[in-house]
Amino acid sequence: MKKKLLALSLSLALAFSLAACGNGGSGGSDSPSGEGGVGEGKTVGIAMPTQSSERWIKDGDNMKAQLEELGYEVKLQYAEDDVQMQVSQIENFVAQQVDCLVIAAVDSGALTTVEAQAKTAGIPIIAYDRLLMDTDAVSYYASFDNKGVGTAIANYIVEAKDLEAAKAAGESYTIEFFMGSPDDNNAVLLYEGIMEVLQPYLDDGTLVCKSGRTSFDETCILRWSQEEAQKNCENYLSGFYADEDLDIACSAFDGFAYGIRSALEGAGYTDANWPLITGQDAELMAVKNIISGKQSMTIYKDTRLLADKAVGMVNAVLTGTEPEVNDTTTYDNGVKVVPSYLCTPVAVDKSNYEELLVDGGYYTAEDLAG
Ligand code: BGC
Repeated sequence: MKKKLLALSLSLALAFSLAACGNGGSGGSDSPSGEGGVGEGKTVGIAMPTQSSERWIKDGDNMKAQLEELGYEVKLQYAEDDVQMQVSQIENFVAQQVDCLVIAAVDSGALTTVEAQAKTAGIPIIAYDRLLMDTDAVSYYASFDNKGVGTAIANYIVEAKDLEAAKAAGESYTIEFFMGSPDDNNAVLLYEGIMEVLQPYLDDGTLVCKSGRTSFDETCILRWSQEEAQKNCENYLSGFYADEDLDIACSAFDGFAYGIRSALEGAGYTDANWPLITGQDAELMAVKNIISGKQSMTIYKDTRLLADKAVGMVNAVLTGTEPEVNDTTTYDNGVKVVPSYLCTPVAVDKSNYEELLVDGGYYTAEDLAG
């Protein structure tokens, strides 16, 4: 593609300084920064799914800042969960001849045509957080261990409710599932992680799902809709749980947890019978709800780290170096196994949020107090 020769010679000139920050990583004071940096004269198009949830705003901001620091020009677009809007945004990026694309898809399988156009135009694509399915146009994938998110949520439930003790005593807890979007590969993996841990307790009756909805197809929620999660929960509470409390809401997303909270309040739940509620993303509101006891836990995915890995990939593909990957077998998109870097998700609750989120600089104490 355009400027390939220039990129190649730049890559030679910069190989040493990039090596200093680790396999093309973007951080570190050794990185060339801003004007005259490695990215000078090159543009990166970032397509993000929505601004309706806080994490994607942080993801976009973090990547933009880190890429600009390296001298890249950045075009950042959000599609507000509208598949067609995202297709048009990426088509525009291709028409504008950006040098690299970073995509977090609204619908992971709906971009194949525009991805093929990018490939034909010589524009490399990095899949961001959500795997891009059914395409050979994607070069690398930066994400979290998505099955690990599911096992972390489920292990939290096992420990917090001491399911082993309950099993030994012949006791049981009621549970309902609120799983992610069926067009998001992450949601499927998360579900698999949850069931790997919880299925035995469902089988032996320690966990009782009164709706009977335990499969992914029965519990998935299109586009991770908070409203849909609330509606599902309201229906469960007024139907299956009219005479018995719900003990555990196994939710795959902080946004679902907010909807579940509203449904529970509407149904008259109080501190006395408030269930265990899980989540994902460590959104500010979720952490506040954890502090006030309205949510039990969330999964902390440090978007600064993920952005750093994705930026390292952009830098590597544009300078002809090898990006840092730590998984070359798991993420098969139906056409190819995409080399990936997977960050580690961490469970957060009342006992460790200060250490992880405040001491770790993700939120300030003032953020959480307000
Ligand atoms: C991400 C989650 C996020 C969800 C909803 C998933 O693809 O991995 O972190 O909670 O989308 O936005």
